[in-house]
Amino acid sequence: MASLVWSILAFLVVLLATTNAEVIDLQWDVDVDDTFGPSSSAQPVITINNKFPGPLINATTNDIVRVNVFNYLDEPLLFTWNGIQQRLNSWQDGVSGTNCAIKPGTNWTYAFVVKDQIGTFTYFPSINYQKVAGGFGPIRVNNRIVINVPFAKPEAEFDLLIGDWFVTDYKAIRSRLGASTEVPDMMLINGKAPYGYSTSKPYESIEVTKGKTYRLRVSNVGTVLSFNFRIQNHKMVVVETEGSYTNQTTLDSLDVHVGQSYSVLVTADQDDGDYYIVATPKMLNTTDDSPLVAKGVLHYTESGSHVSGPLPIGPDPWDVEFSVNQARSIRWNMTTGAARPNPQGTFNVSNVTLTETIILHGLQADIGGSYHYTVNNISYLTPDTPLKLADYYVNGSGVYRLGEFPIHSVNDEATYGVSVVNATHKGWHEIIFQNDLTLMDSWHLDGYGFYVVGFGDGEWTPGSRNSYNLYDPVVRSTIQVYPGGWTAVYAFLDNPGMWNLRSQHLKRWYLGQELYIRVHDDDPNPAKENPPPENLLLCGEFGEPLSPGGAVAPSPGW
Ligand SMILES: *[C@@H]1O[C@H](CO)[C@@H](O)[C@H](O)[C@H]1NC(C)=O
Ligand SMILES: *[C@@H]1O[C@H](CO)[C@@H](O)[C@H](O)[C@H]1NC(C)=O
Ligand SMILES: *[C@@H]1O[C@H](CO)[C@@H](O)[C@H](O)[C@H]1NC(C)=O
Ligand SMILES: *[C@@H]1O[C@H](CO)[C@@H](O)[C@H](O)[C@H]1NC(C)=O
Ligand SMILES: *[C@@H]1O[C@H](CO)[C@@H](O)[C@H](O)[C@H]1NC(C)=O
Ligand SMILES: *[C@@H]1O[C@H](CO)[C@@H](O)[C@H](O)[C@H]1NC(C)=O
Ligand SMILES: *[C@@H]1O[C@H](CO)[C@@H](O)[C@H](O)[C@H]1NC(C)=O
Ligand SMILES: *[C@@H]1O[C@H](CO)[C@@H](O)[C@H](O)[C@H]1NC(C)=O
Ligand SMILES: *[C@@H]1O[C@H](CO)[C@@H](O)[C@H](O)[C@H]1NC(C)=O
Ligand SMILES: *[C@@H]1O[C@H](CO)[C@@H](O)[C@H](O)[C@H]1NC(C)=O
Repeated sequence: MASLVWSILAFLVVLLATTNAEVIDLQWDVDVDDTFGPSSSAQPVITINNKFPGPLINATTNDIVRVNVFNYLDEPLLFTWNGIQQRLNSWQDGVSGTNCAIKPGTNWTYAFVVKDQIGTFTYFPSINYQKVAGGFGPIRVNNRIVINVPFAKPEAEFDLLIGDWFVTDYKAIRSRLGASTEVPDMMLINGKAPYGYSTSKPYESIEVTKGKTYRLRVSNVGTVLSFNFRIQNHKMVVVETEGSYTNQTTLDSLDVHVGQSYSVLVTADQDDGDYYIVATPKMLNTTDDSPLVAKGVLHYTESGSHVSGPLPIGPDPWDVEFSVNQARSIRWNMTTGAARPNPQGTFNVSNVTLTETIILHGLQADIGGSYHYTVNNISYLTPDTPLKLADYYVNGSGVYRLGEFPIHSVNDEATYGVSVVNATHKGWHEIIFQNDLTLMDSWHLDGYGFYVVGFGDGEWTPGSRNSYNLYDPVVRSTIQVYPGGWTAVYAFLDNPGMWNLRSQHLKRWYLGQELYIRVHDDDPNPAKENPPPENLLLCGEFGEPLSPGGAVAPSPGW
């Protein structure tokens, strides 16, 4: 054990010496608070250090981030770092298949490197439906100073975490996740109610100076609804999405789907004044005064007036063609460097040989009389033992079996399963997400970025490949799938580990629409994956830790 600890320390020291990386040490007290609710009714909101949303993690490429999480909730907790690739390190991914939960009244320290990444991401609680109660926050990974950013340095940056919200205790929502399609009650910006909603509840306002340009990092932290984001009288230039610099395009409005993040540049080029920032739900009819329309304010420093006039008009929320066309227009900027000086286009997919095609149908099914979501008619059944632990100690034995999940077909029968795909290390995989339901979906893969090569209507067929964009597909970690349609991505599986592939729609995820991709490098020399962390938590088949390890008695003096 001691040698293991030394090797980890040595690894960190070498890393520090070679990259000038910084260590970002954070302590998070995670709790619930009844007073943070955006509406007038009290509801438990998950806070971090007494904040909702949680604090910004502001890192630079290759920094080491350590987050010591103290769980003051009355139930187990895990955080996942949506879009942070955890290179060789799925031990820190913070989902049920990789980590034992942090028990109430205990603390556990995540330690990971934001290796070879830049961009805009979020974190959130990954188990027990807790995300619907908050606990989320922004992550920025800045460029190292030696690498140019493909646009002028903005005057300032703002994180805008926007998402739907239920005005109900999350435990009550969790306990009745039945067949009904529940429509959220509100849409919040940074945890705040829409402008004009209530005189006693704050709304979000960001201050700008006439003539200056700002970077807004917009993320959809909701659990159900896609939204269209826009600012009255202002245009926006899309520059980045989930770690990729995009071909800069000027838009009036931008669709953001559940779990996605973008950076847009906005220039304060209008008369001094106050302007609406809005996010309207997709695939839902709303009126301007609905609490489901998020409203904030872009406030010019010299403004003497309040927001006025009708809200800026966006696309028809049912216009799928608008949305698909916009999605297709989001391209990689091939010439700019990002985390590395090499142009992004160095890693292009114009000429790759595919190892495998995986076709995943997001479906709904009744199993044993209860409501579930499935992938290829299999609803993921979370084992007590994290897959990653079982993988490490017993080659998965007794917890999961490779080769059982159908990667090309839909099971005849809806069943439960511990779905793990055996993927070829360093193989190019084509993944087809088919949405056979009538609501939007969005899919996310931990550990990687997807090359988004195509969107289409109806059932995907091999002939659909003719419509792919293999020239400059954008790379990102979360991709939307339109109702009755498909989305195709490529992924180069060069990051060994146990990786979660899931719907970002919380209900679909929680009720079974997920699986894991096991990427294994057979060659033991040199070992590719990081060893388990020194503070590894044990649970399930491997029982409790012999010594209390990370467990601490809850006491106010932590
Ligand atoms: C984030 O880090 C960057 C790089 O160190 C720094 O320039 C910036 O001021 C920081 N931003 C915040 C909000 O802390
Ligand atoms: C991306 O930008 C390059 C350079 O400006 C341009 O040649 C190319 O057509 C753009 N691609 C798209 C899809 O807009
Ligand atoms: C939404 O509104 C449009 C008219 O604006 C109407 O045609 C449509 O039926 C409405 N859809 C729903 C689901 O209410
Ligand atoms: C792409 O990035 C380069 C920097 O390498 C920048 O000069 C150019 O404007 C960007 N092109 C587009 C279309 O965004
Ligand atoms: C993509 O990579 C190939 C090499 O595999 C190269 O020939 C081609 O020019 C690259 N395409 C772009 C758009 O950079
Ligand atoms: C593209 O692939 C073909 C066949 O796989 C290969 O012969 C060719 O060298 C590749 N071209 C580039 C630019 O990588
Ligand atoms: C797991 O599999 C590897 C090779 O496939 C073998 O060397 C190792 O002994 C196995 N470990 C256990 C605990 O079965
Ligand atoms: C899923 O399984 C159910 C039976 O459990 C079956 O009726 C249904 O047709 C299957 N779905 C598909 C798309 O094959
Ligand atoms: C997993 O896939 C690899 C090839 O990528 C193969 O060698 C191995 O036998 C497979 N394992 C199982 C259990 O199917
Ligand atoms: C719990 O917090 C204490 C005090 O900050 C720290 O020393 C310890 O390493 C933490 N435990 C774990 C398992 O991270």
